[in-house]
Amino acid sequence: MRKKWVMANWKMNGSKEMVDGYISELEQHAWDKHLELVIFPPMIYLQQFAGKNLHIGSQNVSSEPNGAFTGEVSAMMIQELNCEYVLVGHSERRQYFKEDNAIIAKKFHIVKEHGMIPVICIGETLAEYQSGKTRDVLKLQLQSLNKTADFTFKQCIIAYEPAWAIGAGLTPTCHEITQVFEDIKNILHELKLECTDVPMLYGGSVNENNIQMIDSIENCSGVLIGGASLKVKQLLEILKCITCC
Ligand code: PGA
Repeated sequence: MRKKWVMANWKMNGSKEMVDGYISELEQHAWDKHLELVIFPPMIYLQQFAGKNLHIGSQNVSSEPNGAFTGEVSAMMIQELNCEYVLVGHSERRQYFKEDNAIIAKKFHIVKEHGMIPVICIGETLAEYQSGKTRDVLKLQLQSLNKTADFTFKQCIIAYEPAWAIGAGLTPTCHEITQVFEDIKNILHELKLECTDVPMLYGGSVNENNIQMIDSIENCSGVLIGGASLKVKQLLEILKCITCC
């Protein structure tokens, strides 16, 4: 049976009360044991998941290990809160916080060094999509992670998230996502970073209406969900539609 992931990226949403309600609702439900649900709440709420039987991840991490970096949170700190996963290179971090491929690579490696799984988000902008540059953009984003001799894609997850699909109610077609997953595999091969079992997720406007289509895509190991993960009932609907086989 193949493992799949559903990752809930709350972004900067939620409240202490919302977290309590969300956790207690989840605790009343079960889903396929091959399906791993990972919640990415705002960092300040990670502690509320302590002792709960849920997987958690951080939406961000500092690229530095420690020191005079006011406002930053280190990999060690989030690891101490039992985070198993960290989002790296999300398009909102790239766009609004000007994170470039070099910073993203540092974050990616620091997450790995602390024994957590980086979920490296890659994807093209609308202009890049329209001008047929998707493959080139993805290649550059993946290539820039390869900074060390012993680099490997083991214990990593790749999330393909076209920036133009995020929060937009738009998704690429099934055919386009299939093609991109194929391209990613070939790019890893070209870069000699081949890791045949690197899980690939899709993210961008995933909801209960399109999940079956996305879940049916070959090589799709799950989804990264923003808006539709904020309401726990909607998330549970999505979980019900995923088949692990
Ligand atoms: P969305 O966000 O599901 O609201 O489009 C996805 C993401 O940003 O990871």
